[in-house]
Amino acid sequence: MQTTVYQDLELLFRNAFRNLDIADNVPVVLQDASKPEFGDYQVNGAMAAAKALKMNPRELAGKIIENVKAENIIAKMEIAGPGFINIILDDKYLINKLTQKPLNVENYPANKVVIDLSAPNLAKEMHVGHLRSTIIGDALVRIYRHLGCDVLKRNHVGDWGTQFGMLTAYLIDIQQDNPDLAMELSDLEEFYRKSKVRFDESEEFAARAREYVVRLQSGDKEILALWKQFVSVSLSHCQEIYTRLNTTLTPDDVYGESYYNDLLAPIVKQLITEGIAVDSNGAKCVFLTPEELGSKEETPFIIQKKDGGYLYATTDIAAVHDRVQKLNADQLIYVIDSRQSLHMKQLFVVAKKANIAKSETVMEHAAFGTMMGEDGKPFKTRSGGTVKLIELINEATDRAYSMVKERNQTWNDEEIKNLADKLAIASVKYADLSKNRLSDYIFSFDKMLAFEGNTAPYLLYAYTRIISIFKKANVNTNDYLCKSIDLQENSEHKLALHISRFADKLLDTARENYPHYLCAYLYELSGLFMKFYEECPILKDDVPLNTRESRLALSALTAETLKTGLNLLGIETVDKM
Ligand code: ARG
Repeated sequence: MQTTVYQDLELLFRNAFRNLDIADNVPVVLQDASKPEFGDYQVNGAMAAAKALKMNPRELAGKIIENVKAENIIAKMEIAGPGFINIILDDKYLINKLTQKPLNVENYPANKVVIDLSAPNLAKEMHVGHLRSTIIGDALVRIYRHLGCDVLKRNHVGDWGTQFGMLTAYLIDIQQDNPDLAMELSDLEEFYRKSKVRFDESEEFAARAREYVVRLQSGDKEILALWKQFVSVSLSHCQEIYTRLNTTLTPDDVYGESYYNDLLAPIVKQLITEGIAVDSNGAKCVFLTPEELGSKEETPFIIQKKDGGYLYATTDIAAVHDRVQKLNADQLIYVIDSRQSLHMKQLFVVAKKANIAKSETVMEHAAFGTMMGEDGKPFKTRSGGTVKLIELINEATDRAYSMVKERNQTWNDEEIKNLADKLAIASVKYADLSKNRLSDYIFSFDKMLAFEGNTAPYLLYAYTRIISIFKKANVNTNDYLCKSIDLQENSEHKLALHISRFADKLLDTARENYPHYLCAYLYELSGLFMKFYEECPILKDDVPLNTRESRLALSALTAETLKTGLNLLGIETVDKM
């Protein structure tokens, strides 16, 4: 078990507060220094504490400083302004923090976490709307795993419902006149479109489609076999994208709506018996009060239609049952579009009310905004259609290819392709993950592929710069990860400080399910490295050997941290660019 810098400082100050009889409910308010010239950290809690004790805040700040058992951790403390305490860390302490692996954080609950991610509708091909759920979800999977949690992925694909009756009916029809099914299913959009046309045109076909839904959901073998055929083709399209996007998703993570079928009837029955759901014009609904929901909403949570059919809500309650009762999850995270906020809120409240989730189960909607085109409107093709995800990935790859070719005219085609593939995926993912997920964002190929600013190319390039130092010195980065470090210049201290914050920033990222925190951290890390590299020569002839070794060690740690951080975002580093 290890403690983070933040945990160490928090404890030092809490103890000092206690010595001065400051109550435990008065927070220490420990933060990164708001400006680097103020120091490394600052404690702002003296002001509120002084108010509670009716004391002069600067005087109390002085007393707090006297009571902090700073030895070996803090090099210097200073009072500033109305009672801020500025802190500079001890170099030895810092260096010691660097060499610890940022895993196993003390007091971090090794929860069983279920992450609901990606979840496209299998009736059609994946479109850009599924990008965010897939890559934000995948980053969270990696981050929670890194923090020692037991993480399960649930790809809650839409595979059960009216559309699938229509699609299987169409499959039967064309099977009769055209046996080349593989061909027909190679373009799912087209297949869907054609079956929809037949559905709208033929009353006979529509009736058959509806009958198939019922037969499907009651387990009819013949219809199920056709349905499986369709679903497996559609899933293989998805898997192609998951692999291209370098995600951890596999076919084993698919637990579609159909998976929960057997749980639906008993759940509706339970909710009715407990009086949580009621009959409303033949449909079964849960009406939640504004107090229960935390906001006033007219829309009920419908769990069964008049005709007996189950809905999205029913399946989601069943999925909570499976995840909490069967899998014993402590925490459920749903990476789903923010337009489904009301549905998620209702789900969480109903699941707890019916004791399907436990009172201590953590349920979080990691909501995200919409991807916009450069015109500021939801991202569409020129003719106004939805953009297939595969097309977007292909275009990013083509653009990255031209760029890499232009920059590296001596490379062979394989080298160019190899880097272009990685750079394209990294850029698409990083552009998304680096924005606050709650906001809508403008998707721009030019911006995401730029070498300046908070972009994947910038970070990957910074990484290759470090690798090239080691190539030039003809030594191995890994051999330098545990060499001793001596911080002489301020830029060395600041770089080491930032590296030592990695564990804390990862905890912040997980606490809020905000991958952009980790991105901001890595961007700052690259900037601090560049500054260090400008100010502190490493391989020049007049640099003393021990200084050179120490600086190489600091560089190796920077590279290692960058690589670990990018990998946690699902981004692969490259050694040359
Ligand atoms: N298939 C749904 C959609 O495309 C998303 C499902 C999200 N997950 C869930 N458990 N509701 O809108």
